[in-house]
Amino acid sequence: MRRKLAAGNWKMNGLPADLAEVSALMAAHAAPAIDILICPPATLLAPMASLRGPHALRLGGQDCHAASAGAHTGDISAPMLRAAGADYVILGHSERRAAYGETDAAIAAKAMAAHSAGLIAVICLGETLDQREAGQTLPIVAAQLAASVAQSATAQNTVIAYEPIWAIGTGRVPTLAQITEVHAKLRADLTQRFGAQGAGMRLLYGGSVKPSNAAEIFALPDVDGALVGGASLKAADFGAIISALSAA
Ligand code: 13P
Repeated sequence: MRRKLAAGNWKMNGLPADLAEVSALMAAHAAPAIDILICPPATLLAPMASLRGPHALRLGGQDCHAASAGAHTGDISAPMLRAAGADYVILGHSERRAAYGETDAAIAAKAMAAHSAGLIAVICLGETLDQREAGQTLPIVAAQLAASVAQSATAQNTVIAYEPIWAIGTGRVPTLAQITEVHAKLRADLTQRFGAQGAGMRLLYGGSVKPSNAAEIFALPDVDGALVGGASLKAADFGAIISALSAA
């Protein structure tokens, strides 16, 4: 049985004043029946960890280095995230693949570092619009899955997020059939490679998830939750998405 996961990716947004949104979210969902995750900028991890107290809210980083320490100016390691209160880390987000040239192999190395530090890796993948229109979606996501998921992956330490690049921040969402097709392919490949562990890995959909479209997406087979960008910044919107997932 895969536990549902509502994950918020705050990206490069959030100042201490925005902790009020987290307080409001925790108050509205005091005893959630699903996993709730917020991945704030690294500067807000420790304050959020203090704020959450005994609440079940999970926290995550948005990237980590493959090394645990060293001369890597500007980077952050998996043990550092863990020490700041993180339980998860997003890896291979398309914005990082695009801006920093992160390769599948680099992402797999980061995932191993995350696993060693006791973090759950949320590995992101997805096709561009050109790839979608060229009919390449399934081979592209299959190749990303094969190369960016570390061999150390288990149902407990790895989550996969399918985020079509053309759906991120655009308000454009794939059809329900398109989401179903990709998630079925990811599930089949994970099960073939990892057996029962692959069958137990959670698959999230991400890209313009909002309160208005969440319920129909969460009703799809093999959609175990969402990775939410813009709509995770406000407690009212993210809370509505959490409610939709809880009811699915
Ligand atoms: P939006 O929900 O803003 O489209 O962002 C999705 C995303 O990139 C989450 O990682």
